[in-house]
Amino acid sequence: MAKSKTVYICQSCTYQSPRWMGQCPECSNWNTFVEEVISKTITTQTKSYSNASVKMIRLADVTYEESKRFSSGFAEFDRVLGGGFVAGQVILMAGEPGIGKSTILTQICRNLSDSKILYVCGEENPEQIKLRAERLGVNTNNLYMVTETDVDFIIAGVEQNPDTKLLIIDSMQTVTSNEFMGIAGSVGQVRGCIQKVAEVVKRLNIATIVIGHVTKEGTVAGPKVLEHLVDTVLYLEGDHNHLFRILKTMKNRFGPVSEIGLFEMGEGGLREVLNPSEMFLSERSKFSIGSCVSVVMEGFRPLMFEIQVLTTKTMFGYPMRKASGFNVNRLQLLIAVLEKKCKIDLSQQDVFVNVAGGFKVSEYGVDLAVCLAIVSSINNKAISSDLCAFGEVGLLGEVRKVSQMEKRISEAKKLGFKKIVTPNDYKNISDVVSELFPKNKA
Ligand code: TYD
Ligand code: MG
Repeated sequence: MAKSKTVYICQSCTYQSPRWMGQCPECSNWNTFVEEVISKTITTQTKSYSNASVKMIRLADVTYEESKRFSSGFAEFDRVLGGGFVAGQVILMAGEPGIGKSTILTQICRNLSDSKILYVCGEENPEQIKLRAERLGVNTNNLYMVTETDVDFIIAGVEQNPDTKLLIIDSMQTVTSNEFMGIAGSVGQVRGCIQKVAEVVKRLNIATIVIGHVTKEGTVAGPKVLEHLVDTVLYLEGDHNHLFRILKTMKNRFGPVSEIGLFEMGEGGLREVLNPSEMFLSERSKFSIGSCVSVVMEGFRPLMFEIQVLTTKTMFGYPMRKASGFNVNRLQLLIAVLEKKCKIDLSQQDVFVNVAGGFKVSEYGVDLAVCLAIVSSINNKAISSDLCAFGEVGLLGEVRKVSQMEKRISEAKKLGFKKIVTPNDYKNISDVVSELFPKNKA
């Protein structure tokens, strides 16, 4: 006999509680509990499986077709996917509102104008999409808009069009089903709807992109549930003050993770950036005080950036440390190392660090460049513009090796850097500082 009861589920982390709570004990978010019905079938008889015949398949007998992959028309997008879309693949594309998710998908529709595409427009009406499509030069008779947001209607539409190559759902948070509890966008709804869609598109071999909103903490609403239900998770990131957009993979069942694709937002939508290092360094002025170029790895790709540092005398006794694009705690640590190991007094200096171009660097390979830019600013002496540096700086002042050094060095050489300061040549931060800034009594 079926017996139904309700539970309260946190919309942020899916913690379950029998009672409503104001704050989630798991993720500490407030007002995230929503009531959901769970039906449990209680069976009195337990079935024995000991004699059941279990279907097994030898790994050697499993076949797959590599030809099932197809290109999105963007080399950068294909790279992130591991070589293009796979038929039946379900991709979750997440990003902040206004970052360019609908734009890039409209452009993919333009690139795939020979294939049938279904576009579920839950967020915008077809007129708005038409306007954007015209601006982006979409010229196709194969693009169909679906204005329904009931998941069963969407699925019916897909079933009636099994020759669809690509299904786009913009966005998952607007799709609902009366089978599930909760309002549109709640964990229960989104999870249930994505499962239903995935079942159909996998059966019909239709590649699917589902757009997901990002919460203010930077995760897709109901992150854990969604990421498990899809094959690939992509994040489109960027700074609204800058034109760069970075497409990252967080999970990929059909290719490598940690690959990135770079785009630039412009008049005609997103444009691929094929030579990112050149672009990031293009606005650099030569012989500036407090500037040092570094090369970091993003996935398997070396990227060059300019690190800018400004040090000024502290006005109010307590020195400020501010960083944009770089971890401020890491900055505090590097300052402590410089003070102790290179005898540079920063106790009465405010230190501001900026990664030019609005890129966020999370890799320790930039440590050395940050240190050198700080020393350059405090000594009022520019570093040669054909010098670049990379390496992790440890607590003992040692310069540590980082991954894929050969690739970094060849990227720097390609861009014309003559002096490359690497962990191969220097073992200690004080050696580098005393060579580049001889006046500094390190
Ligand atoms: P959009 O793709 O609608 O964002 P999302 O779907 O992620 O919410 O992008 C909206 C922004 O992109 C908007 O601020 C305008 C800008 N934009 C351009 O700069 N150029 C263009 O050609 C297009 C289509 C949009
Ligand atoms: Mg949109």
